[in-house]
Amino acid sequence: MTSGSTAAQPSADEAEGTPPDSGDAAQEEEFQYRDESRLQAGGQMTTTTMARRLPVLVRRSLRMAWQVDRGATAGLLACQIGTGVLAALGLFAVTGTLTALISSGDITDRVREAAPQLAVIAGAAGLRALLGVTVTWLTGRLRPVLARAAEVSMVEAALGAEAAANNKPGYNDQYDIADRGAQVTPDLVEEAQDVLAATATLAAGATVLTVIHPLLLPLLLVACLPQAAAYVRAARVVYLAGLETSGRRRMLHKLRWHMSYMESSEEMRACLAGPFLLDRYRRLAVSVNVSEREAANTGAWMGLAGAAAGGVASAAVWATLLWLLVSGRMDLAAGGGAVFALQTATGSVRGIINGGARLVRTGWYVQDWQNFIDNAHGQAMVTCRGSEVLPAPPERFEVRNVIYRYDGAEKDSLAGVSLKVRRGEIVALVGENGSGKTTLSRLICGLLLPTFGEVAWDHKTTARLEPWEAWKHVAVAPQRFTYLPLTLRDNVTLGQDDTSDAALMAACEASGAADMLPDLRSGLDTLLTSEWFGGHQLSGGQWQRVILTRAFHRRASLLVMDEPTAALDARAEHHVFTGLRDLAKDRAILLITHRLANVAVADRIVVLDQGRLVQEGTYAQLTREPGLFRTLWELEQRTGGAPSPT
Ligand SMILES: Nc1ncnc2c1ncn2[C@@H]1O[C@H](COP(=O)(O)OP(=O)(O)OP(=O)(O)O)[C@@H](O)[C@H]1O
Ligand SMILES: [Mg+2]
Repeated sequence: MTSGSTAAQPSADEAEGTPPDSGDAAQEEEFQYRDESRLQAGGQMTTTTMARRLPVLVRRSLRMAWQVDRGATAGLLACQIGTGVLAALGLFAVTGTLTALISSGDITDRVREAAPQLAVIAGAAGLRALLGVTVTWLTGRLRPVLARAAEVSMVEAALGAEAAANNKPGYNDQYDIADRGAQVTPDLVEEAQDVLAATATLAAGATVLTVIHPLLLPLLLVACLPQAAAYVRAARVVYLAGLETSGRRRMLHKLRWHMSYMESSEEMRACLAGPFLLDRYRRLAVSVNVSEREAANTGAWMGLAGAAAGGVASAAVWATLLWLLVSGRMDLAAGGGAVFALQTATGSVRGIINGGARLVRTGWYVQDWQNFIDNAHGQAMVTCRGSEVLPAPPERFEVRNVIYRYDGAEKDSLAGVSLKVRRGEIVALVGENGSGKTTLSRLICGLLLPTFGEVAWDHKTTARLEPWEAWKHVAVAPQRFTYLPLTLRDNVTLGQDDTSDAALMAACEASGAADMLPDLRSGLDTLLTSEWFGGHQLSGGQWQRVILTRAFHRRASLLVMDEPTAALDARAEHHVFTGLRDLAKDRAILLITHRLANVAVADRIVVLDQGRLVQEGTYAQLTREPGLFRTLWELEQRTGGAPSPT
């Protein structure tokens, strides 16, 4: 392991971009992107598939834009069509001007004849500039709305999916890649606009070219194909590199987050984790840089080959034009117009190729975004569960012979567990770390559906219930809770109906959160984070009181408390446990805790061992009979109790 001082700086080799040694390569292996089907699909994209996909992508981008801002989308379309029409007008006017000026006769007459055409050229150029400014304004208006709309669709899809989907292999990678897709959604629209504009200008140039000589346009198009193929290949290389490095880049993002954000900032210092993680970051960054640099080099070579092919193609077209003039197949006046039209058309074709290649690359990203949404919909709760709504708050919660295995896990976390809890009852769930307590609580709440067996609320299995309606009947104080950067009131109520001070204060009294109110500048409406101005940072135990307040405030039939007092001081813990019996009057309470002295409050205690239910009984029974509970309880008596003063 490198020392702290050397870890802070990359070695000369790393700085040069040399791939890390084999040990580091093994670490990177963990973060590799493994969705072979997506990599293969990307690898198989050709110019023909690109040509076929372009209209689909343009349509999709327009549909998305239309959904979020009809005015701006219609305005943009009108501008593009206007640009095309003005380009055609301008071109025809140029041809007319050249014809008039080159024709024989008095120069004053020729200029007078050309004057109206010149006015059209100037007018068309001025209007095109105006349309260009309008396009910039409308695009600026559309961009942020479109990106936010794409993000919201992702979050909606993610929230609508089963919580268990998070465990599916590749799901989080897919989310990350999709997020990039959401960010570039506005690019899709802009690039589609560019391609449309170039196509409109090409249409104008093409008309003029075809009128002048029918050979010129097909020749121009055929000549540009090699360049198009090279550009698409370059775009594909860059896209695939992005896909392959996505797992590593996600890790980089996580490392950056842990090293810089306030939640982990102290640990980073006290555990000397900063230099260690920074070293890891640098090494991983080097490996990503190497992959991306290789892709950039390959892309550049392909672009160079494409540009060379484009140059040769242009030369061929110009040579043909020269031959047409020299051989007398085209007169000089038409030749002048052809030069201008050819230049415009060549520029437009290049614009289509460049914009098209970018559009396809962005299209792949946006496809990734769409894939995630489709995948999340495939795992949507609406497709996995029923839509029944309980007529009244449930009285009994029952787990019947349940087996549960997390996706990707090698063994069952619960193996044939049955448990009942009724309103008015407190059931305690105990067992060693990893024995399945939290998993069982997730199942009884209907957050997870069992792999085998069933969970029923008043005889209705949770799989048949409409989940969001069902969760109105449960309140959870989870073991690992989320600090939301919201006010105390919002943190507790979270959009619930009863946001009155009276209801809030009752819950604060029960959890002990009321004690900290005098320190909060704006009382219930204090922002609970110092990451923003005016916010207040709570201690770990104070946060746990807020989480308990949230659970108590919901008047749900089932209250799950998973290690609810782990961070509380003795007085606060005592306060919560003495109030529990009162709370249980109209609730079923499932209490999970390692402090076995606290489970004396429960009517029944259920003991889990490696996913199996091994004991059940009252506190008095289980402390007397031999078994896991008694073993753990005796250990707690020996190590947990405060020694008597000697
Ligand atoms: N999201 C998950 N994905 C995969 N496996 C998981 C997940 N959550 C838990 N497990 C596994 O399921 C088993 C039971 O975990 P669970 O969290 O239910 O234990 P627990 O009894 O609550 O432990 P603790 O006392 O440490 O909180 C463990 O082996 C754990 O590794
Ligand atoms: Mg747990």
